[in-house]
Amino acid sequence: MTVSIREVADAAGVSVGTVSNVLNKPASVSVETAQRVRTAIERLGYVRNDAARQLRAGRSRTIGLLVRDVRNPFFTDVSRGAELVAAAAGYTILLADIDESVEREASYLELFEEQRVLGLLISPVGDALPKLNRLRARGTPVVLVDEVSADPTLSSVAVDDVAGGYLAIQHLAELGRERIAFVGGPYSIRQVTDRLAGARRAAAERSAVTLSTISTEALTVLAGRIAGERIRNMPAASRPDAIFAANDLVAMGVLQALTMMGDVRVPRDIALIGYDDIDFAAAAVVPLTSVRQPSTELGETAMTMLLRQSAAGSEYEAEHVLFQPHLVVRESTVGSSLG
Ligand code: RIB
Repeated sequence: MTVSIREVADAAGVSVGTVSNVLNKPASVSVETAQRVRTAIERLGYVRNDAARQLRAGRSRTIGLLVRDVRNPFFTDVSRGAELVAAAAGYTILLADIDESVEREASYLELFEEQRVLGLLISPVGDALPKLNRLRARGTPVVLVDEVSADPTLSSVAVDDVAGGYLAIQHLAELGRERIAFVGGPYSIRQVTDRLAGARRAAAERSAVTLSTISTEALTVLAGRIAGERIRNMPAASRPDAIFAANDLVAMGVLQALTMMGDVRVPRDIALIGYDDIDFAAAAVVPLTSVRQPSTELGETAMTMLLRQSAAGSEYEAEHVLFQPHLVVRESTVGSSLG
């Protein structure tokens, strides 16, 4: 049974307005009255209805953040950056895991519309543009996170994945690796195909380098392990001498599969580079070289943009930020082959 604010006021012998002041403007109430109200709240188990309060106030203090895959630590870092900025401005975040599902993306967009959130940050998986444009037309600010925007009026924050793919191959080529395999997928993920495009551009500029591809079902450790086992089971002379994994989770799976039998050494036999530079990359059994994305800054920048858009209303000019990735070199490409 929900306890109303009226019941709290009656129990404390004060008006509803005084209860509201105790909750929202405690400095305006005497210590004795505030204590009486808090005692009544405790005894009755009253919980205020924040959604109704925000609706009455005409604006929400909640922001929806939809990420592709909450299991990927990259998105944990993005969420953390966004949350730090939101909390400093007095807002809370509702985090939704799209889990690479178009259906989940659609249902969460409907849910956030019903919740009348202040705005939305999204790293989209499907063609969410029609739904996002409908939300925007109703005055809900939207910023794309880790995604470039085809619509110049829709703000976006992303990282140059083509440049990132180029960096990876350039590094491996500088180490003298010549038979390089790109491991990642599915190719429906724009970040994957951009990284591969950058890798292909770097390989094409180096006649000694050949680039093969091994596609994966997903960007997960399991998918990486399956690809790694496939490579380990090749005749030694047919194996690549280096692997560029589309992200660090895939790279961790590849590393596990290659080294589990002890017959393949990283980097002596096969150098390995990942992408994102998540915390686990440095902690891997052979610390992982990775193309670092400024994930926390992505989240901070996207949230700052969204709050600016919310404050500026129709005066707002869309913003597009493209961060540059950079290489973090560790043992998995330059180590002493202990792994
Ligand atoms: O979401 C798929 C990948 O793209 C993540 O691993 C991260 O690299 C993102 O940019």
